[in-house]
Amino acid sequence: MVAQYITEIESGVVADSRLAANGVTVGYGSRTVIDDLDVAIPPGVITTIIGPNGCGKSTLLRTLTRLLRPTKGTVVLDGEDIVKLKTKDVAKKLGLLPQAPVAPEGLTVSDLVARGRHPHQSWLRQWSADDADVVERALAMTGVADLADRPVDSLSGGQRQRVWISMTLAQGTDLLLLDEPTTYLDLAHAVDVLDLVDDLHESGCTVVMVLHDLNLATRYSDNLVVMTEGSVLAQGHPRDVITAELLYEAFGLRAKVIDDPVGDRPLIVPIGRTHVQVDAIQPSAN
Ligand SMILES: Nc1ncnc2c1ncn2[C@@H]1O[C@H](COP(=O)(O)OP(=O)(O)OP(=O)(O)O)[C@@H](O)[C@H]1O
Ligand SMILES: [Mg+2]
Repeated sequence: MVAQYITEIESGVVADSRLAANGVTVGYGSRTVIDDLDVAIPPGVITTIIGPNGCGKSTLLRTLTRLLRPTKGTVVLDGEDIVKLKTKDVAKKLGLLPQAPVAPEGLTVSDLVARGRHPHQSWLRQWSADDADVVERALAMTGVADLADRPVDSLSGGQRQRVWISMTLAQGTDLLLLDEPTTYLDLAHAVDVLDLVDDLHESGCTVVMVLHDLNLATRYSDNLVVMTEGSVLAQGHPRDVITAELLYEAFGLRAKVIDDPVGDRPLIVPIGRTHVQVDAIQPSAN
């Protein structure tokens, strides 16, 4: 069903998507990082962007969330050109977890997470019991409720990361863009966070993530966008996209692709230079 939907998007049959970049060119100063890129984010699906360091994944996420303005092309959010929307309206529709967020010195966890409710407030609508409930739930969902009174800058990297995810959840949007949400997390906490992402997806959220762990990306996404040097090299269901050839082309990585023994997705087994049987590194490693 999802694979069919994605195929329909690629063939242009499905015109609507939650978020799309159309012919986007964007960079920093005079340096172009992304050139004439098209991507459509299907609704209700977990899309994961993978690609080597520096290929433009975070730049794409910043562009999709209007933090960066393209020099050419448009970003369309729920059918509207994102540059025409007010900042607060964008924040009510999408939540972004940036790659390396920094909290103001001394700010407590509960105060940071409460900032996720700012887009919902105005002089007419002040802080309410509902906001407090949402914050409490967001703290509980990422397992950081017991850290609520601690200053964010006193936490470990992994604790801090979960607090930031909590703040993004407190925004209460059904479109989430998470730039490396599992950075600093040990494997058990990484799986916990991705299970939470999967729960959010099950409850109807559209998610776009950047992940470096290719096997977690493959396990948790229905749509992979593979980037290299500011372009989309491949897009689709992990079963259709992940091959030894693609991994070599995108990352220069030699790997064997096998069936995941605990799932229905491909499993990537990287091949290093040492401790590898010779027959494992033959070209038809797929
Ligand atoms: N604020 C900035 N000013 C100037 N150049 C930048 C800035 N941010 C990123 N770049 C450059 O843009 C290119 C793409 O960076 P980007 O952060 O999008 O890569 P990425 O794919 O997210 O990498 P990583 O996997 O390391 O996070 C890189 O060459 C980077 O040096
Ligand atoms: Mg990045």
